[in-house]
Amino acid sequence: AANKKLLIVAGDGIGPEVMTQVKRVIAWFDKRQGLTFDVGEELVGGVSYDKHKTPLTDEVMGKALEADAVLLGAVGGPKWDNLPFADKPERGLLRLRKEMELFANLRPALVFDALAEASSLKTELVKGLDIMIVRELTGGVYFGSPRGIETLPNGERRGINTQVYTTSEIVRVARVAFELAQKRSKKLCSVEKANVMESGVLWREEVTKLAPEYKDVALSHMYADNCAMQLVRQPKQFDVIVTDNLFGDLLSDCAAMLTGSLGMLPSASLGATDQQGRRRALYEPVHGSAPDIAGQGKANPLAALLSYSMMLRYSFDLAKEADLLDTAAKNVVAKGFRTGDIMSPGATLVSTTGMGDEILKELDRLGA
Ligand code: NAD
Ligand code: IPM
Ligand code: MN
Repeated sequence: AANKKLLIVAGDGIGPEVMTQVKRVIAWFDKRQGLTFDVGEELVGGVSYDKHKTPLTDEVMGKALEADAVLLGAVGGPKWDNLPFADKPERGLLRLRKEMELFANLRPALVFDALAEASSLKTELVKGLDIMIVRELTGGVYFGSPRGIETLPNGERRGINTQVYTTSEIVRVARVAFELAQKRSKKLCSVEKANVMESGVLWREEVTKLAPEYKDVALSHMYADNCAMQLVRQPKQFDVIVTDNLFGDLLSDCAAMLTGSLGMLPSASLGATDQQGRRRALYEPVHGSAPDIAGQGKANPLAALLSYSMMLRYSFDLAKEADLLDTAAKNVVAKGFRTGDIMSPGATLVSTTGMGDEILKELDRLGA
């Protein structure tokens, strides 16, 4: 894979801390398994704003479009919270997603056996849980127009965002979800609010129309508020969930806590496959820059490491290598090594780097 280009954008807060551990794992695969990538590194988010007065330069955008895969840490933080909207670190990430056309965001929530007790839910409710949330990522209220803040003649101000979905936007993300369901437990739950939103009515109609093409998949529909409730009541009823951009953002944070911590949840953002079989992709942990623990060596790097494993699997078809890294992560946690967010009585508390050390040791053991 030496000709394959990886672009690393570590970003802000704990982004660079967790990405340092990913880089150690990249180096391990390079040295020990001959898995060489052409790795470049660039700025995105607040760090880019500080240097270039924009959260994403056109140059970095261009490099992302050319890369075979992009790895992102996290962006944002209190330092940049009061900037005008267009300059905010988060806009850098949103621009990457939009211009790379990464419409399908895969957010798996998988409970490691050893962590079932770290969940805020009863152990038996989450033990063995394995669900996949497919979040639409380039449409909906995040990008719809009109948008903005305006002042009315009476002096009142009005904030506007618009939820919009076209049929093709719904169909392409639903197909990704149906196909994933076919490879898993063949259950797909489509989530919207067709009871109050026209975009939800259209969503439900379009998803329903696809069902005859995927006869082996059992399709169901659920309102988003109920889905949030069902996720904490009886999460194992779900296999694949497909939903819009905003509902997917909320539901995936919710699902994250089932696994014990936001620090455990990886994600893959995928575009369409082109004629040459190339598919744009960005991999990032679901968590943010965690300003409350940044710079203290407390961040859990597993979400970022598992995102790297998703990259090996989805972008490069390296299932064996991805399995190796996933197994290493499971074993390290099973051996009792924990960062603070997943700490439990009797376990060994490790730092971000300490967790990286254990992963490398485990890779040495497994990969020997
Ligand atoms: P957050 O995900 O950064 O943090 C939420 C809570 O989870 C915090 O208590 C944090 O300490 C904890 N946490 C998150 N990741 C962790 C990890 N790896 N290990 C241990 N604990 C972890 O969400 P927030 O506080 O709402 O947002 C902070 C900033 O991050 C904001 O600027 C927000 O816009 C941004 N953000 C960025 C992304 C992204 O880059 N994809 C995602 C979410 C939020
Ligand atoms: C996420 C984040 C982002 C989102 C922000 C930082 C733009 O919360 O990746 O889940 O809302 O999509
Ligand atoms: Mn989010």
